[in-house]
Amino acid sequence: MARTQVAIIGAGPSGLLLSQLLHVNGIDSVVLERRSREYVARRVRAGVLEQGTVELLQRAHVGERMLRERLVHDGFELGFDGKTTRVDLHALTGAAVSVYGQTELTKDLIEARSAAGAKLLFEAGEVSIEGFDGAHPRVHYAHGGRRHELHCDFIAGCDGYHGVCRRTVPAQSMQSFERTYPFGWLGILADVPPASRELIYSNHARGFALCSMRSLNRSRYYVQCGLDENLESWTDARFWDELRRRLPAAVAEAVITGPSVEKSIAPLRSFVVEPLTFGRLFLVGDAAHIVPPTGAKGLNLAAADVRVLYGALVEYYRTGRRESIDGYSAQCLRRIWKAVRFSWWFTSLTHKFSDDPFNHRLQLAELDYLTGSPAALGSLAENYVGLPFDGAG
Ligand code: APR
Ligand code: PHB
Repeated sequence: MARTQVAIIGAGPSGLLLSQLLHVNGIDSVVLERRSREYVARRVRAGVLEQGTVELLQRAHVGERMLRERLVHDGFELGFDGKTTRVDLHALTGAAVSVYGQTELTKDLIEARSAAGAKLLFEAGEVSIEGFDGAHPRVHYAHGGRRHELHCDFIAGCDGYHGVCRRTVPAQSMQSFERTYPFGWLGILADVPPASRELIYSNHARGFALCSMRSLNRSRYYVQCGLDENLESWTDARFWDELRRRLPAAVAEAVITGPSVEKSIAPLRSFVVEPLTFGRLFLVGDAAHIVPPTGAKGLNLAAADVRVLYGALVEYYRTGRRESIDGYSAQCLRRIWKAVRFSWWFTSLTHKFSDDPFNHRLQLAELDYLTGSPAALGSLAENYVGLPFDGAG
């Protein structure tokens, strides 16, 4: 009968980072991932890290390449009314953000787990969990053509929004909060130099656009699009043309175009489930909350959950004390709702919700106020770089 201390469902950033931090602190875990290693390693996601996430990666001994290859950004630009205004994060908060692709981060974590001889099972199918409301949680799964049963002390549900863990919790034991947005993000990745040294979030009457990057030779661009858009109808040429139309002229001229190496549409959603703990089951990251990508909070919020949970498990296994374990849900939800609020606000400020010109005038007025008020800019900056951790490890 297989046994571990912490069974982790899902090998996304949450599951891998939790497993690595537990390992660094001598706590055993098994990670069960339904997809293949190749699929998980090549998934294209966002790439802006708060300083808190950078520190946690170093604590997990997986920060070396990130520190070497990241782009440190002391600010970003807001584009509106044909011009750009810089938000000086460093001057406003003393902090910066790091641009380092989630794809690279996931590769670093998989390598570190494999190098440590971790029990990281890819293509683990039919995962089901039980007994987490009692003293002996168990996980059942299929792997290598056989069925397996894993006994553990705790289960960490790091299996994302579509995972099995949250779906196994009885509906009456939890409450979920959701807001969907009437648009998505069409994103492309292209091996061309970025149009600007820093990110540009652009509000335009035709819809939102974002200029981002992965390196000085690989750019990531997004345009707001309808949810019913058909990806095939978006040729690279159409994408570049629409992007340029939504950027201030000086930026549009600086856009260097090229063939896309990845192109995809992602819906926008705000979602939170409460609580995050069900007996010996903890929901972590996207399994518990989703934010629209506008505020670059998805990955950082997942890392913040992992920071609190691994700290609580280390305390439990070292001292037997359960306070932090019992406090996991409440502590994380405070930070989660602040990030949900910020991501909703930033999305509301920069995206086109209707053809009503009154709405756009309101957005332009708020952007004009914001960029002229150090107090308002300070609030934007402190949320963007990541709010301080209150007492969490
Ligand atoms: N059994 C095993 N694995 C599963 C199951 C299941 N039933 N369901 C889902 N998974 C795996 C998925 O294949 C995925 O690899 O769980 C993993 C969840 O990873 P993510 O969705 O990346 O969630 P998380 O690790 O919390 O990372 C959150 O990733 O998606 C970005 O924007 C998001 O930045 C945020 C971060
Ligand atoms: C990205 O680079 O993919 C990115 C950056 C900032 C965001 C969202 C996505 O807010």
